[in-house]
Amino acid sequence: MTLHFTLSTDSPDSIASPCVVVGLHQGGALTPSARRIDEASGGAIARVVASGDATGKAGATTVLFGLPGIKAERVLLVGLGDPAKCDVAAFHRAAADAARALRAMPITSAHSTLAEVEVEGRELAWKLRTIALATDAQAYRYTATFKPKGEAEPPQLATLGLAGADGPATRTALAQASAIASGVRFARELGNLPPNICNPAHVAAQARELAARHAGVSVEVLEREDMTKLGMGALLGVAQGSANAPKLIVLQWRGGGEARPHALVGKGITFDSGGISLKPGAGMEEMKFDMCGAAGVLGAFLAAVELKLPLNLVCVVPAVENMPGGNSYRPSDILTSMSGLTIEVLNTDAEGRLILCDALTYVQKFDPQVIIDVATLTGACVVALGKHASGLMTRDEDLAAQLLDAGQATHDRAWRLPLWDDYQGQLDSGFADLANIGGKYAGAITAGCFLSRFTNGRRWAHLDIAGTAWIDGRKGSATGRPVPLLVQYLLDRCA
Ligand code: BES
Ligand code: MN
Ligand code: ZN
Repeated sequence: MTLHFTLSTDSPDSIASPCVVVGLHQGGALTPSARRIDEASGGAIARVVASGDATGKAGATTVLFGLPGIKAERVLLVGLGDPAKCDVAAFHRAAADAARALRAMPITSAHSTLAEVEVEGRELAWKLRTIALATDAQAYRYTATFKPKGEAEPPQLATLGLAGADGPATRTALAQASAIASGVRFARELGNLPPNICNPAHVAAQARELAARHAGVSVEVLEREDMTKLGMGALLGVAQGSANAPKLIVLQWRGGGEARPHALVGKGITFDSGGISLKPGAGMEEMKFDMCGAAGVLGAFLAAVELKLPLNLVCVVPAVENMPGGNSYRPSDILTSMSGLTIEVLNTDAEGRLILCDALTYVQKFDPQVIIDVATLTGACVVALGKHASGLMTRDEDLAAQLLDAGQATHDRAWRLPLWDDYQGQLDSGFADLANIGGKYAGAITAGCFLSRFTNGRRWAHLDIAGTAWIDGRKGSATGRPVPLLVQYLLDRCA
């Protein structure tokens, strides 16, 4: 369950909450609510600033307990950094810092006044939504396959009050936050599940459940035989080494009458061992996250449906496991894709593009006005952009601008890489129409170039989320990206 959000304009000193969150700038300047609490408590905040315990530095948080004259049990001071530089990024940071501090407290509700902080070019609704989403992201806990350590379950944040007047704009902002939070949680949970649970059949079952729970959503799951009839030789080539049968999931939302749909396509490799071109053992466990593209488009679809967006959506997810075995496809195999193009397999670990190319061909039967595919496609994208930006590739300037803007607005940022024809030659093959790898240079781009061969000049963009879909490490977790970016993009199309 996502957090429950409420609005209130009560004075911060009079709010009976386990914790009130207020801001403090570097240099000691207080936000209006911090000033109000300072006055009502006889200078408690001024004293903690004077002592040097609270500095207002970005990232610093201080908890004050049981202040006289204050109804709330705790006051959380959040450092906002340089007042001259409180931009979108700084605000996101402060919202996340506050959320992390709240997560550590044994409380079930809190009240944040951070939306009163001035952020250049952003209004109240945006600030409320940003705080709500940052707090929900920190409140999520993975519990599907283990019990949290310790005897009694600690209390968990369930309700977040926000300082702001109840009105159409603020209410819309919180409705959007709830929907995006549901989508993000859905994507994170699916991403975090182990591949022995989250196999292609499980992803299909999740899609069916989503459809069953929401009026206006239809679902279809194509089985191996259906895909054989359609000639999806590339997808089936990847799937043939696994005991888990592939599924091609198709979800539709019709909120937009007769308009052509927006299409979302997500890579759903439920585990990527590399196949016969086996990956090294170290870090292979991270390849359970190789279905995060699928999780991301399903999460965005869920959010769009919860918001009942007035547009038509089609979501296509090829769900496949990439495994070595006696029946696996092999390097030098030639696959015939649904489009008719033949593909020389030079590396069975470049499997994502093989399942996506058939999904891209298939989705065109819906005559979409735009196709956006999302995939944990290449390690090369992580080398190029690191863990902060998703790689965006498209030949359409408007679409690029729209997606980049949506990423900025949600702090779920993307950065564009070129798809110039100059790179296409790297995919030449002596035995097929193209090869599935493009050599050692520009691996993220040649993967994008491979996909572009299956788009027939349609309006299309590719998001490589290999670096952004999860946080790595022993306790790494799926991030739910790029659900916020995708939902913002769709919201902007409705505005
Ligand atoms: N799922 C991987 C890409 C990946 C690797 C994502 C590491 C996140 C972290 C993809 O299927 C893959 O294996 N790509 C290969 C392509 C290569 C064989 C051309 C890669 O990136 O090494
Ligand atoms: Mn691979
Ligand atoms: Zn992969």
